[in-house]
Formats: sequence, structure tokens, C-alpha cells
Amino acid sequence: CGIVGYVGMRNSQEVLIEGLKKLEYRGYDSAGVAVFTPNGLEVKKSVGRLANLEEKLNERPLVGTIGIGHTRWATHGKPSDVNSHPHTDNSVKFSVVHNGIIENYLELKEELIAKGYRFVSETDTEVIAHLVADAYEGDIVRAVQKAVKRMRGAYALGVLTEHEPDRLVAVRLASPLIIGVGEGENFIGSDIPAILNYTRNVYILNDGEMAVLTRDGVELMTIEGNFISRETFTVDWDIATAEKAGFDHFMLKEIHEQPKAYRDTMGSRLSPDGSRVVLKELTMTEQQIRDIRNVHIVACGTAYHAGLIGKTVIEQLARIPVETDVASEYRYRSPIITPNTLVIVVSQSGETADTLAALREAKRCGAHVLAITNVVGSSVAREADDVLFTWAGPEIAVASTKAYTTQLVAFYLFGLHLAQVLGTKDEAFIRDMIAAMKSLPEQVEAILGQSEAIKAAAEDMSKHDDLFFIGRGVDYAVSLEGSLKLKEISYIHSEAYAAGELKHGTLALIEENVPVIALATQEDLLEKTVSNIKEVTARGGKVLGITSERYAQELAKSVNTVFTIPQTHALLTPALAVIPLQLLAYYASLARGNDVDKPRNLAKSVTVE
Ligand code: G6P
Repeated sequence: CGIVGYVGMRNSQEVLIEGLKKLEYRGYDSAGVAVFTPNGLEVKKSVGRLANLEEKLNERPLVGTIGIGHTRWATHGKPSDVNSHPHTDNSVKFSVVHNGIIENYLELKEELIAKGYRFVSETDTEVIAHLVADAYEGDIVRAVQKAVKRMRGAYALGVLTEHEPDRLVAVRLASPLIIGVGEGENFIGSDIPAILNYTRNVYILNDGEMAVLTRDGVELMTIEGNFISRETFTVDWDIATAEKAGFDHFMLKEIHEQPKAYRDTMGSRLSPDGSRVVLKELTMTEQQIRDIRNVHIVACGTAYHAGLIGKTVIEQLARIPVETDVASEYRYRSPIITPNTLVIVVSQSGETADTLAALREAKRCGAHVLAITNVVGSSVAREADDVLFTWAGPEIAVASTKAYTTQLVAFYLFGLHLAQVLGTKDEAFIRDMIAAMKSLPEQVEAILGQSEAIKAAAEDMSKHDDLFFIGRGVDYAVSLEGSLKLKEISYIHSEAYAAGELKHGTLALIEENVPVIALATQEDLLEKTVSNIKEVTARGGKVLGITSERYAQELAKSVNTVFTIPQTHALLTPALAVIPLQLLAYYASLARGNDVDKPRNLAKSVTVE
């Protein structure tokens, strides 16, 4: 989503629309603005393109010099006029724009309804408008501070109230927000491009900080109310760099967004005490789960590779047999689907034609269909019986990164949910796995901190025309994704093999200096994988090993280079091991001078069969 806010002397409607236009590249499904006009706080919003909103504003402009604006990318509630931001309280005296997810919004909503507040939208954001109104006792800053203390989750907020029409309040926790400082005017923005036309002086808000903007100044403070003094930062980026938050490519930006994407996707679905997974969004009953005899996972490309991990996760956690299919094959092999088959379709975009066709076939045969998708309101989301959304945020680079890793998280959550219902894992196991999942974001950050080492390996690899990935178990599935990533953007030919299968033919291709990337993260398979690595090194192959900290010393004896990932639960290693492979592909593509974000011959979303 995108946020813009303005206080100054200009016609705020124009500044807001200009700012939102600069955020269009991020993707959105609806837009809206709220402005103080001579008639009070007025809101206009519209589903679809910004042009739809502009049309409404052209018919009847909102005249005023203070306002907030938003482009929405749906999470809670489908794209619609009423679900668009800004949201208001029942008296229309308070207005809010929000990015992020309020994890405890259902609890808060129930409480507010009991107090007599009426809700008009399906969003988590509307809760904030009512909370602020409820907390208001004459000071908007105090009211916002009180409201955010009740909220769990991630948010960047812009808040206006008609009671204090010269102030704009902004708050940040785990969703980006910046303040632009001008002369006689000040701005807020979810990203720098939103304000770059007007000023290059910005404050970057940190987590737990807020800002109070008036025409003449900006006060920074913590949400506890302690004032902060900070220098402004001068942005010397051009628009293109600013869109990528300073990264060279969207892919690199999205790789770095994975810790947040993990937190967002897990956040509201783990009980606060870390003992259980809570998937409130599922309609599937416990009886329906007990009746599941088999699972089919169907998807394309990277989403299919997530499905391969999903198979292991579900089989290990719930002991239900799982088959995986690429969607373009599924329909044509007369799959055996019964009413006791659960079909899981996985799709970032939710619009892939083959996946949609598979979904329809599964429904026609009477299966219950669960979709794992990143796009609320997409065809797959609308047609499936149940949906688990990945909250990765819009993915722009053609090569998928954060969508894939959040699909893994969705499988972990769903696998644990099945285990809870079926009793296939005890409480201690579930608690341990949840604790390990909660550590994933920091562990990803630690891996990203070692990008330079991966970059060097990638530059070396970029000089070769063929290479191989090997691994066993989930490492094999991750190898397939690593190999696809490399092919997609570096155009280097690569193949992924189950490590034990190499000797049945492909080993003939291993000769002096052929690079092989070997994944060996699984304790029970380590020895066997090491034997396969030795088959490679004996023929002169150059091996880069990827393993968990605990086995690094052991693996180092058999490979040329080792890259370690932090220690985690055996089923969770893919969520870490894929990160260095994403970076390898990225830097190899860069070294070859390719267009990383827009690889030749490929499309982000393929809507033909
Ligand atoms: C295209 C993209 C891939 C993606 C696949 C499936 O081929 O280039 O990155 O994995 O479609 O897309 P979906 O949106 O269904 O996950």
C-alpha cells in the first residue's frame, strides 16, 4: 500500500494525487483521500485505478490544504470502495490511512462493537479509526498513543481529526514511513518517491516513533511521548532509485523484504503464547480435516517448488499422503480426485491460467480446494473454497523471492494446523516448531548480512555455462528452486538433481571445474549427501556447500567452499537455505549484465495455458 499526507498552503488534493501516482509502481487495487474542506472532513475513495478516484474528484473537488491519501493493496477484505482507505469513525471526525496488518483486530473489533461502534468495512484498519475516536479526550496525539498501545502487528499510520484541523499525526511500527520537511508545508509518505517532487529533506521514522506535523514544523517523539531530536536526511536519489528504496533492483529489495514478509505472514496466525497455530480464516471444519484421505498440491514455476516443500511438510506433520503436480499437467492425467481429496493450489498472482484451470477441474470433481496466494481478490482467491493469504506485499521482480518464501510459511502454518486437529504431533513439538519459526526473520537478516561472500561466489559462477545443484529431501526441492532462479535471470544453464540420482547418468557431465552447489542441511541425510559430493569432487567438480551451522565443519572437509545458514528445525531449513541461492542468482545475473528484474522471454503472471 502507499501512504501520502500533506499539511501546507497548497491545494492538498493535488499533492496527494501526485504522491499516489508516484507510488503506483508498487501495485494497488483501490485509492482514496481525506481532506479538511470548509464542510469538515471529507473522504473520497474508489476501487480500481487512480484515474477512477481522479474522476470523482474532478466532478466535485475537495478544497483544503490538509489531507491524507492512500493506495490499497488488499489484505483484509476484498478490493472495494468501502474497504478502501481512508477509514473514518462513525462521527466522521477522525480519519486514518494505514499500511500493515493489525493482528488482534478481531478482538478489538468485538470490543468496539460491544461499545456501540458500527463497522462498515471488512478491514483491520477501520478498527484504528474507532479506537482513536474512543480514546480522544481533546488531544489527538494522546489519543493516537493510547490507541496504538492496544494494537498488535505492523503499521504505518496517518491520522487526521476535525477537532484539530491543523495537525497531522503519523506513527510507525514495522511498516515504513517517512516525513518530508518543506517550507511552510510538511509531508508524510510510505516511500520517498511520494514526496520527492516537493522536498528532498526527510526524517526517517524508526519503529515505535511518531511525528506531529503542522504547516510550520514537525515534532518527533516516541509513542510513549518522549521527544526526539534528529537531523533531516537529504535524499540524493532519482525517482527510479527511490522506488527501489535505494536498492539497485526490485529483486534485491524484495529479497531484503523477506524478514518482514515472514513476520507479516506468521504474525496473526500464531497464538500470543506461541503454543498453537490459529487459522481463523479457514472454513474447513475439524471433521472435514479428519476426512481428508489425500492431498494434491498443484502450481506452476516457483509456486510449484514451494508445493514440493509443502508435500514434505504435510506428510511429516500430518501423515496424509500428498501428490504434487505442475498445473499444466494435472488436468490431462485424469487425477484421482474424490470428495475426500484436498487440493491445494499455490499461486503468487492468483491469475495463472494453468493453475486456475486445475482449480476448476478439482472443484468439478468435488474436491475441497484451498488456495495459497498473495493477491486478495484474484481469480484463484475468489474461486477456491478456502484461502490462506501470504502477506508478502506486491512482488514486482519477475523472479519470485518473497512470494516463494511466504508460501513456505503458509505450508508450515497449515501443516501445523492439520497436526493440531489430527493429533499427529504433541504440544511440545508444535511449541518448538513455532519458536523456531519465530526466529526465521532474524536468521534471514543474518544471512543477508553475508551477501558479499555470496556475491564473490556468484561472480565466479557467472563465468561458467553449465552448473548443477544437488541435495536430498527438502534440500532437493530447494535445489530445484535455486536452479530455476539462476536460469531465469542469469541465463546460465543449470540442473538440479536429487544427490543420490546423479550417479545414474548425469555424473557423466561432471569434469574439471564444473561448479556444483550442494545443499546439505539435513542431519539424517548428511553422510549420504557427503558421499555424493565426493563422487563430484573425485571428478574435478568444484563444490559450494550450503549447510546449517552445526554441520559446517564436517562439510568443509569435502567441499571447496562452505556457506552456512543458522541452525533451525529440520523442516524449516528451506526458508533459510533458499536465501543464498536467491542472492547467487541475483549476483550472477548482475555479473552477466542482464536485466535482473525483467528477464528475457518471461512474464510475471502467465494468463495463457
Ligand atoms: C510465471 C512467473 C514465475 C511464477 C509462475 C507462477 O512463470 O515468471 O515466477 O512462479 O508464473 O506464477 P504464480 O503467480 O501462479 O505463482
